Amino acid sequence: MSISYKKETGVFQLNTPNTSYIIGLVDKEKFVGHIYYGRKLENDDFSYLMRTRENPFVPSENARDRNSFLDSFPMEYPGSGVGDYREGAIGVRTLRGHEGVLPLYQSHKIYPGKPKLPGLPATWGEASDCDTLELTLTDEVSGLEVTLFYTAFSKLDAITRSVQVKNHGTDTLYLTKVMSAAFDMDNDKEFEMLTMHGSWARERRIQKKPIGYGKQSCGSIRGESSHQEHPFLALLEKGTNQKRGEVYAMNFVYSGNFLAQVEQSQFDSMRVMMGIHPENFCWELKTGEAFWAPEVVMVYSHKGLGGMTRTFHDLYRNHLIRGEYRDKKRPILINNWEATYFDFNTEKLLDIAKEASQLGIEMLVMDDGWFGARNDDNTSLGDWEVNETKIQGGLKHLVDEVNKLGMKFGIWFEPEMISPDSNLFREHPDWAIQMPDRTPSLARNQLVLDLSRPEIVDYIYEKVAKILRSANIEYVKWDMNRQLNDLGSLGLSPERQGELSHRYMLAVYEMQDRLTKEFPHLLLENCSGGGARFDAGMLYYSPQIWCSDDTDAIERLSIQEGTAMIYPLSAMGAHVSDCPNHTVGRKTPFETRGYVALAGTFGYELDVTKIPQEDRDMIPAQIAMYHKYNDLVRGGDYYRIASYRENHGYDCYEVVAKDKSEALVTFIQVMGRANCHSRRIYLDGLDENVKYRIEGEERTYLGSTLMYGGLQVENLWGDFQGKLIYLKAEVDK
Ligand code: DGJ
Repeated sequence: MSISYKKETGVFQLNTPNTSYIIGLVDKEKFVGHIYYGRKLENDDFSYLMRTRENPFVPSENARDRNSFLDSFPMEYPGSGVGDYREGAIGVRTLRGHEGVLPLYQSHKIYPGKPKLPGLPATWGEASDCDTLELTLTDEVSGLEVTLFYTAFSKLDAITRSVQVKNHGTDTLYLTKVMSAAFDMDNDKEFEMLTMHGSWARERRIQKKPIGYGKQSCGSIRGESSHQEHPFLALLEKGTNQKRGEVYAMNFVYSGNFLAQVEQSQFDSMRVMMGIHPENFCWELKTGEAFWAPEVVMVYSHKGLGGMTRTFHDLYRNHLIRGEYRDKKRPILINNWEATYFDFNTEKLLDIAKEASQLGIEMLVMDDGWFGARNDDNTSLGDWEVNETKIQGGLKHLVDEVNKLGMKFGIWFEPEMISPDSNLFREHPDWAIQMPDRTPSLARNQLVLDLSRPEIVDYIYEKVAKILRSANIEYVKWDMNRQLNDLGSLGLSPERQGELSHRYMLAVYEMQDRLTKEFPHLLLENCSGGGARFDAGMLYYSPQIWCSDDTDAIERLSIQEGTAMIYPLSAMGAHVSDCPNHTVGRKTPFETRGYVALAGTFGYELDVTKIPQEDRDMIPAQIAMYHKYNDLVRGGDYYRIASYRENHGYDCYEVVAKDKSEALVTFIQVMGRANCHSRRIYLDGLDENVKYRIEGEERTYLGSTLMYGGLQVENLWGDFQGKLIYLKAEVDK
């Protein structure tokens, strides 16, 4: 059992292979304190680390200054409004309008396995994979019961957390804030904070900054995890790099509003927390009702960011992503978005499919524009009926023709939206999210459906499912192209308006759950104007997510670097697209576009009938590379070797097979360099004592030579050039 409790000292210890997380109880007062998180500690008495014997003393020994204690004690799940002036993890308002809550220890349970979170995505594990601690705290005055869930994985350095809040009082309570995870630790190692930021077509750029006094946070109040900030936070010991240094990381398994915050106090402790953003959040809890907060995954690594990344990848590949495609090579697709935008019909799609099938492409995906009267983005969202003027002969005919070419067929939907110019809106103007008397702001000419209303969810689900039932459709791209605002529901009572954003998210999850149950063989790819919902929540429902609308190979280096810092390559939607690139106008060689897209699910996003013949001729070879390397890329260990963000010259990452028998290095030279013959890169993750042969070379290299001595990569001629280096272990004859 990886979790233990020592009654004599009141200490809980959660162990993973290399980490310990330690919580302590203060006997008389029943405060729950955070003792330690970090490298694994052997069984010992850790209670002294809670500092209850130091000034300020626990209130039972010094009641005249209770505040000093509350304001400095390292809390495990801090309340608010009663004397701890650091920000609380939970907020509650009573019917009388008072806000104060202090959750204190009541009971606990330890058991093998991991419970499900009702209606929410979460990592999963059997009794042999993990153990769970349920720590129940109560606030006697309000009757609020707070159960903290901790699951420690036995083969991975990951601990997950979530919270259930129940109202055991006699009056209704209003939950104004509930963080899914929080803890206090000292900032004694000059920690830096790593977060990811961006914009549309510029997602997940890595940012590091020192932690100072006060609060520093990232978050989203956009109703989605967002392009702009990412539900991820890592604290890095000063000097941490890919290989060395302590990293404390938190990632939210949720796709809506979030807050990730660090607050450094007057005593140099840091309060770290992550959960649903409290802005615009208020949940009515009637007597007996419960609320579940989504899951946070915590990963600790003392082997730098690389160690953290590999833990996330393994956890998500084995304990989050589900379904038939989880461990399978995905069909190589061709998507018509950048090829045709809205201007297509059956004939055009079949022309693309014919050419594509001859080159070895395996699936045609029909993107936006096949329904209603949608010939541009002004109209028809919600009218999920096939436009037979464009799709002459109907959808089934098109799908059958594509199938006859030996290809699968996939389709695009944007189920969460409604166009003001749509039959659906004309019939149900009240179905859009809106505040009465205020005209809701449009974005991309569209409004958002009020998915807090079950009748709307049922209607839309049926519409989508009916299309999927009508033909042999094997893939869905589920898009979501705007953020939420004007937060009002014409279906919720005034007291429940603050529940809208979370109810919306729960409904999206429910729809995707239904979809994957009704169509278990369907490959679902999530998308949100590119990568605005590339998060662990969506990964629970779809094994892959479109990474960004920016398909430029060079821009993608940073986007994919940030994404792959947390999420496995098997999840990363990446395609070879047209040239000059439609987002930035850059001209990049076709080979390079292929190398960059090989880091993900791989596909094409161009009109294959129109590209230059020499590019078309390269496609069969690219496809052969995908087939050759994808098992390794999907399942191997990821090492970030060099970052173009940092060196401004080249980008390099490596994937090593779990058994270290092979490795693939992708090297992209962004800028050519004068008077430079070669660059030395240091490989990683190989077996020191094994000889590796680089494909195309005669000689072999010892793993230790390649890792510590390095490998010389010759300077390539020109900008935006790339090469793959494939290594295979020599088997002794
Ligand atoms: C945004 C997506 O990211 C694109 O790939 C494309 O599907 C468009 N939406 C269609 O409207």
